[in-house]
Amino acid sequence: MSKKNILITGGAGFIGSHVVRLFVEKYPDYKIVNLDALTYAGNLENLADIEDKPNYFFEKVNILDADKLKEVFEKHEITDIVHLAAESHVDRSIVSPLDFVYTNVIGTVNLLNTAREQWKGEYDQHLFYHVSTDEVYGALGDTGLFTEETPYHPNSPYSASKASSDHFVRAYAETYHLRTVISNCSNNYGPYHFPEKLIPLFINNIINKKPLPVYGDGLYTRDWLYVKDHAIAIDLIFHKGRKDETYNIGGFNEWRNIDLVKLLCKIMDEKLGNISGTSEQLITYVKDRPGHDRRYAIDATKINKELGWKPTVTFEEGLAETVDWYLTNTRWLDHVTSGAYQSYYESMYSAR
Ligand code: NAD
Ligand code: DAU
Repeated sequence: MSKKNILITGGAGFIGSHVVRLFVEKYPDYKIVNLDALTYAGNLENLADIEDKPNYFFEKVNILDADKLKEVFEKHEITDIVHLAAESHVDRSIVSPLDFVYTNVIGTVNLLNTAREQWKGEYDQHLFYHVSTDEVYGALGDTGLFTEETPYHPNSPYSASKASSDHFVRAYAETYHLRTVISNCSNNYGPYHFPEKLIPLFINNIINKKPLPVYGDGLYTRDWLYVKDHAIAIDLIFHKGRKDETYNIGGFNEWRNIDLVKLLCKIMDEKLGNISGTSEQLITYVKDRPGHDRRYAIDATKINKELGWKPTVTFEEGLAETVDWYLTNTRWLDHVTSGAYQSYYESMYSAR
């Protein structure tokens, strides 16, 4: 296997930390450089178990800072990029869309420009891997699945910014012949998930006996994938994916929010030794998210047929493991929910 110096952006975040861990442990001959601005969502505690590995490096850099990106590229002689850094929460994008334009669009173009300059004349030897979302495809009705051919139809400022970044990646492949690949994945869950997203937020609220704020009628549907299976898919696509292709990644695992929340309540009651039905009593229907996409579901046939990928963890197993992780890692949860998290929670939920 040829030696690579891989820049992973957003490696201190939820999915990024799992990708960094997988690459650091699986490829001791690669140099893995985690570049992250450490926003509210970035946390080096997510990588405490691998931070002393000799092939792991961290650079605290904002992808909006083109000079710093160039420095990091030259210092580490970066050969490839796996780009995950992003503003990732839909509710925040509704409050502050411009933050999403800066990081997700301009930040991605900065990174593309740096790669273009640094790899000039040898694009075929390098890869720019862009990690994206199924939300770029918009919303589904009761039937159908998102394929790689589904037209883009983003409905939130978050998904519009991710769609825009996907288009820029494609445009750089077409215009400058940068070697790229894009993957669009469904909803992830698992350890180190920041408790602003549905599953970790509800786990934290059940632990603290707080209301569980279900948006609208609770009949919105998501396709859930265990985060370690996403990391495995990224590894496969990085090494074996075809140049300039898009791959959809999904869990073949659709759940209506209210059914998922009830399952989570049941698991939590068992683990906490509660009387059955205790956590369900916390369910509270609240004002809906504006522009709320009704249903997402991925057709992951292409990655399955071409690369042999499929999820390895069932939802029941993954959810139980996730709950165990949050109940064990109380220090992590206390740290991330102290300080700014409290004011975020107040501003997002008190008016609902
Ligand atoms: P996250 O919010 O947990 O982590 C984002 C990371 O990016 C954080 O470590 C943060 O510090 C860093 N970051 C943010 N702005 C930055 C900037 N300007 N410069 C440098 N670093 C910056 O996000 P996540 O859920 O791990 O998602 C990672 C990627 O995967 C995103 O691109 C997201 O769109 C995509 N994705 C997420 C999901 C999901 O379910 N969470 C599903 C599909 C795709
Ligand atoms: O589909 C992939 C996307 O999944 C990623 O691109 C995003 O980065 C990621 O955040 C996620 O987006 P969602 O909006 O689907 O995830 P979230 O956890 O915010 O919400 C999941 C569902 O639960 C959605 O229908 C909204 C609902 N919800 C969410 C929260 C936070 C609630 O009912 N109550 C809540 O408090």
